[in-house]
Amino acid sequence: MSSNEESKFSFFSRKKTPVIDESKLKIPQHIAVIMDGNGRWAKKRMLPRSAGHRAGADNLKTLCKNCGHYGIKYVTVYAFSTENWSRPESEVHTLMELFVEYFDRYDPELEQEGIRVRFTGDLLGLPQNIQDVCKRAEEGSKHRTRMTLIVAFNYGGRREIVQAAQKLAQQVKAGTITEDEITEDMFAKNLYLPDVPDPDLIIRPSGEERTSNFLVWEGAYSELWFSDVLWPDFGMKELTEALVAYTKRDRRFGGLSEEK
Ligand code: FPP
Repeated sequence: MSSNEESKFSFFSRKKTPVIDESKLKIPQHIAVIMDGNGRWAKKRMLPRSAGHRAGADNLKTLCKNCGHYGIKYVTVYAFSTENWSRPESEVHTLMELFVEYFDRYDPELEQEGIRVRFTGDLLGLPQNIQDVCKRAEEGSKHRTRMTLIVAFNYGGRREIVQAAQKLAQQVKAGTITEDEITEDMFAKNLYLPDVPDPDLIIRPSGEERTSNFLVWEGAYSELWFSDVLWPDFGMKELTEALVAYTKRDRRFGGLSEEK
């Protein structure tokens, strides 16, 4: 770290966890997290994969608390992708069960934290009981304003784009729009959650450095941050490291920095 960076954040070398002057952090409005590494976390402890997913679901509560601490307004997490159906039936079943349990069991805690819950993905492709959980959680949390937790479930970025294209094609067919009226803005309005701002920062723990069909359109200009820590162990220290890295990024969106 350069001396310039050292003066920007007050690190105290005696402590393992860096002590940060939080007032100097740039806080993203929206972060998105790929909750990866549950299986490896379980394997390291000689536990079944289901125990890793349970620990991962528990850690989502920690993430919400930690993001709340920093005043992050939107947190999107990748909980089940359109490709995850190819996992063994028993694992898919575990993830569905955890999902149901999570939103029923933890709702009082989410309420206490002022967390609104929304879902993104091909929800109509989910079993009816899961669709019912989504409706209940969304309806019951509409009034909460401190933070919005968006859970990507049966989500695939390519599928989201294809479904937006289908919606637009239907509008052209019905004569409500013409094909040359289709702009990037109009396209974005046909995605799953058009009112949610694009993620500023996408975090992937577990040492993999790819985005795996997550927020393909919305993440076009997101900053990326990767960590070797497995998702169930991703805590305040790792989130803070990601925010320190984000603070140092120069987001130009294809333009030039102000000083150039
Ligand atoms: C990837 O790790 C993780 C998943 C496919 C599932 C993520 C789900 C949760 C954290 C819990 C359920 C969520 C809710 C909202 C209740 P992996 O299994 O691919 O890990 P590995 O790469 O180490 O095998």
